[in-house]
Amino acid sequence: MEHLEQKPFPADFLWGAATAAYQVEGAFDEAGKGISVQDAKNFSNPVHNTTVASDHYHRFREDVALMKSLGLKSYRFSIAWTRIYPDGVTLNPQGIIFYNQLIDELLKQGIEPLVTLYHFDHPQALQQAYGGWYGEQMIEDFKRFVQTCFSEFGDRVRYFMTLCESNNVVLYPDLIGGVPEGVAVEAWRFQVSRIMALANARVIALCREMLPQAKIGPCIGYAVAYAATCAPQDVLAAMNEDEFRTFYPLDLLCLGRQNPTVVSFFAQRGVDIRLAEHELAELKIAQPDFIAFNYYQSNVAKYCPPAGQEIQPGFNSDGQKGGFKYPHFPGLYAGDSNPYLERNDWDWEIDPAGLRIACRKLYDRYQLPLMITENGLGACDSLVGGKINDVYRIDYLQQHIAQMQLAISDGVPIWGYYPWSFMDVMSTSNGYHKRYGFVYIDRDDHQLKTLRRIKKASFYWYQQVISSNGQQLFNQESCK
Ligand code: BG6
Repeated sequence: MEHLEQKPFPADFLWGAATAAYQVEGAFDEAGKGISVQDAKNFSNPVHNTTVASDHYHRFREDVALMKSLGLKSYRFSIAWTRIYPDGVTLNPQGIIFYNQLIDELLKQGIEPLVTLYHFDHPQALQQAYGGWYGEQMIEDFKRFVQTCFSEFGDRVRYFMTLCESNNVVLYPDLIGGVPEGVAVEAWRFQVSRIMALANARVIALCREMLPQAKIGPCIGYAVAYAATCAPQDVLAAMNEDEFRTFYPLDLLCLGRQNPTVVSFFAQRGVDIRLAEHELAELKIAQPDFIAFNYYQSNVAKYCPPAGQEIQPGFNSDGQKGGFKYPHFPGLYAGDSNPYLERNDWDWEIDPAGLRIACRKLYDRYQLPLMITENGLGACDSLVGGKINDVYRIDYLQQHIAQMQLAISDGVPIWGYYPWSFMDVMSTSNGYHKRYGFVYIDRDDHQLKTLRRIKKASFYWYQQVISSNGQQLFNQESCK
């Protein structure tokens, strides 16, 4: 649909940027903090190192000053569960002090905090005790942590996100501690989806009770699925991907219902994934205020015969284009590349229009306002003469923002936009080799260097976008 006139961004639009605790804070065992499942990976993955990360824990005032200079209206960050409950059970008041200071500093600078309550980093102690999100006990343990967050920070924080990308973590079990020995991966996936949905519902109910003025919603990662061709079997494959990967978990979180196609697919294979009536009732009552979603790319799906070989989704983890292996789920769909789109060095397809399509699909299905809580381009930035001229990132972001405005013109209510990431963060599989930030952190995977903060060209560009409320998107003159 072509618009004769575009709607402007709302006057109170939340122009933001995002990070997550384990990817920026460092100080992984300071001030009573416990070991999280992310810290536990430090010992097995050479580029996954939460020890110092971007040293935000020690430099948060300097970082907030940079946010202020960027003109951020809002900052999305996550609270490390292990700072507040190091072992998942025992309260650590020192952890509360840190987040109080961060929130106060943000508010002093006029920046609205958007708090993620869980971003992949639960206590390793709970992982060891009962397999983390695979265990029923996680619902109450998570609730205890969230209750503390609400009572300590809820007087100043007005926006909360529950669990980051609960749909993607089940696709990539290693992201959150892995599948316990002897458990089949599909069984693990459905159990974790169920537990996460119930935990989400329980803390939304708690929020209504404790903080009736606050806004709260779940977060998913949505790579909208396109059919490889107009052959009906490819069209069905794309529906399968959307339903299995995104709508099944999101229906649980927002509608309190189980997608019938997914239930029937597993029933035919002898697996009963139906939830109990009282569980569905609990999910149905916990209505979120918005859907947060992270968008980086679209996907292509094609027919995958039932007798084919299964290939689980993986990553391109070295940034060499062409290294990505597309998943095959026999009887459902197989991934493929999109000949119409460019890819980044990690084979993520760059598809600005896909953001508009994703917004429309989500709003049409759920009728809830949206927050775009991650969107960005991972790249190997070079520091040349003290500057980082990341024009490729500006290009990516401006095209996505333009499509977001088209989605708003289409009638989709969007409350905010949070590019990933405010500053360079430790990418889970690629360390500091793959960067996303507006602010460069002077370190790499092998040397800590100065950890100096350097504004990239995209920083100056985004500054103009924010100050013009999205009017000055394409003015390259703004890039210094
Ligand atoms: C998102 C996660 O899915 O993707 C972030 O919420 C992550 O934590 C981001 O960093 C980008 O992924 P990667 O692997 O490029 O760091």
